[in-house]
Amino acid sequence: MSYANSRIPVSAQQGVHDDLLRQVARHRDQPFRKPVAQYNRAAFDLALSGWDNQAPLILDAGCGVAHSTIALARAHPAHWVIGVDQSADRLARRKPYPDALLPKNMVLVRADLVDFWRLLALAGLRLAKHYVLYPNPWPKIGHLGRRWHAHPVFTTLPQLGGVLECRTNWQVYIEEYTLALGLLIGRAVPWETFEAPTPLTPFERKYRDSGQPLYRAVVDLDAPG
Ligand SMILES: C[S@@+](CC[C@H](N)C(=O)[O-])C[C@H]1O[C@@H](n2cnc3c(N)ncnc32)[C@H](O)[C@@H]1O
Repeated sequence: MSYANSRIPVSAQQGVHDDLLRQVARHRDQPFRKPVAQYNRAAFDLALSGWDNQAPLILDAGCGVAHSTIALARAHPAHWVIGVDQSADRLARRKPYPDALLPKNMVLVRADLVDFWRLLALAGLRLAKHYVLYPNPWPKIGHLGRRWHAHPVFTTLPQLGGVLECRTNWQVYIEEYTLALGLLIGRAVPWETFEAPTPLTPFERKYRDSGQPLYRAVVDLDAPG
């Protein structure tokens, strides 16, 4: 497939999955007991080792090659910005700047977000900003449980507070995500289409250059309900 010819996820699922809200309610009502892996604890410690315990925290969850983490760190020099991805290969890919010019207020760690998010919550940490940018859509009907909003860990995200932003190129994903989040926080979560004149991530650039609509949901979890 050529660069600017990326496709919107193709799915037999044309709208919100029939099981979505049942699944989210089940996750909300049952504790998620999966043990935390040691390598994720180590990654968590590493992520905070350069933090001064004062700077507001930004999490770039599923940062991929981390261009967005770098951009966020440059835009928010007084914040500590953490980029997390499970792919060591993506994290290691060449950055738009030499190492010496990378912002000092950021760190990249390889970890599974299923554990990393829970470690943040267990430590009682709160985020100022939280980005979930172009998560894998898992568009097959049978893969609902792999989408973040239908995964048991999703109930942890509201506990982390801050301004939570999700972006995707699949309308069904943003519809499901906002419904699921709305169920957890007890208020409607709006979504919108948007233009990306300055793409924040490589996926955003690719989708934009392919002429696809982009969707996002931004919610301030600390705002009164
Ligand atoms: C479609 S890519 C988007 C990457 C980046 N946000 C962007 O927009 O360019 C999704 C990313 O999520 C990461 N990811 C998926 N599941 C993950 C998990 N359980 N823990 C950490 N990262 C995960 C993948 O490795 C991949 O880099």
